[in-house]
Amino acid sequence: MKILVTGGTGYIGSHTVVELINAKHEVVIVDNLVNSSKDVLDQLKEITDRHIDFYEIDCTDEKLLEPIFKNHQFDGVIHFAGLKAVGESVVMPLNYYHNNVLSTIVVSNLALKYQVKKFVFSSSATVYGDQEVPFVETMNLLPTTNPYGETKAMSERILRDVAHANKDFKVSLLRYFNPVGAHESGLIGEAPNGIPNNLMPYVSRVAKKKLEFLSIFGNDYDTPDGTGIRDYIHVVDLAKGHVLAIEKLKDSIEVYNLGTGQGVSVLELVHAYEKVNEVKVPYKIVERRPGDIASSYANPNKAFKDLGWKAEKTIFDMCKDAWKFEKHYQEK
Ligand code: NAD
Ligand code: UD1
Repeated sequence: MKILVTGGTGYIGSHTVVELINAKHEVVIVDNLVNSSKDVLDQLKEITDRHIDFYEIDCTDEKLLEPIFKNHQFDGVIHFAGLKAVGESVVMPLNYYHNNVLSTIVVSNLALKYQVKKFVFSSSATVYGDQEVPFVETMNLLPTTNPYGETKAMSERILRDVAHANKDFKVSLLRYFNPVGAHESGLIGEAPNGIPNNLMPYVSRVAKKKLEFLSIFGNDYDTPDGTGIRDYIHVVDLAKGHVLAIEKLKDSIEVYNLGTGQGVSVLELVHAYEKVNEVKVPYKIVERRPGDIASSYANPNKAFKDLGWKAEKTIFDMCKDAWKFEKHYQEK
């Protein structure tokens, strides 16, 4: 298939491009580079030994994006382009609603206009809010506590309506749990600007002695060791889930959890990181972070049943690959 990957120079997008090419698909990337760099294209070339068509375009700009659809006959779109910093979304809600919701409208509108029949969307486990774990796709979505989460819930709603109104337009909504790790080459990975907000990149910076210690946000949650539990998933497993989702897309609208189904606490992750990489990660217990929930993990059975997809990599693989990327390629 010929597939348009929006946000394809970003963290999950770039890993998915590699897996699409490994599976013999043709890829075109559109990204406005707001949170990624053109250097990723060189790394992708090194990993895949392919030239990949790239357009620096904002996906909210229909006029600029339309010629790409006109000039390429896409079989499918994977729409990763979006802003993802939860805290920033609280401070700049309009940016988030504008960028994330409008890009979904523009890209799906062009897909319809140019008869692209398959559409895969990056959603998030955040749409489940705080309810009983494990989260399963049939659960009602709860209002999230931040504009970022709302943009994901709104985009899901929009795409559901579009799929219902257009019988040949098939949509897969993928709800990611906590993507971490990096490609085994160490050439691509998660490279947040400034001080990271998320756990794994923060742990990597502490291990590298770029930051003094990790602040663990609370050890009084109702969990076995009191620290928050999440379903960390290796980004390469996640990327492979996208390949299967687009290849096997049959129904008008499908929703899949992409997670391992295993909850891991903050302390367990820190200890796994120290053990597998033989490094020290000093930490302090501090106040809970506002908006955090105690536990989030997936019931991933539906993706296995329908797509034959299952996460293969362990928390040790995730920590090892995150450290490899940090050591070699993160000089900031
Ligand atoms: P990322 O920031 O690394 O990648 C997103 C890419 O989209 C970036 O390269 C950015 O430059 C680009 N982009 C943003 N707005 C754009 C626009 N209007 N036009 C064109 N390009 C644009 O983030 P990621 O972690 O790879 O996430 C990819 C998608 O998955 C996002 O939609 C994100 O919300 C979603 N998601 C991510 C996570 C996570 O933890 N990483 C979890 C759940 C869902
Ligand atoms: C964050 C986002 C969420 C998004 C998800 C996946 C927030 C509030 N939520 O979720 O919307 O879908 O990423 O990308 O940002 N922790 C620490 N110290 C740190 C950082 C994190 O103890 O310095 C803890 C957190 O309290 C949590 C766990 O580590 O228990 C994971 O945190 P994080 O990596 O930020 O992901 P989420 O909060 O799950």
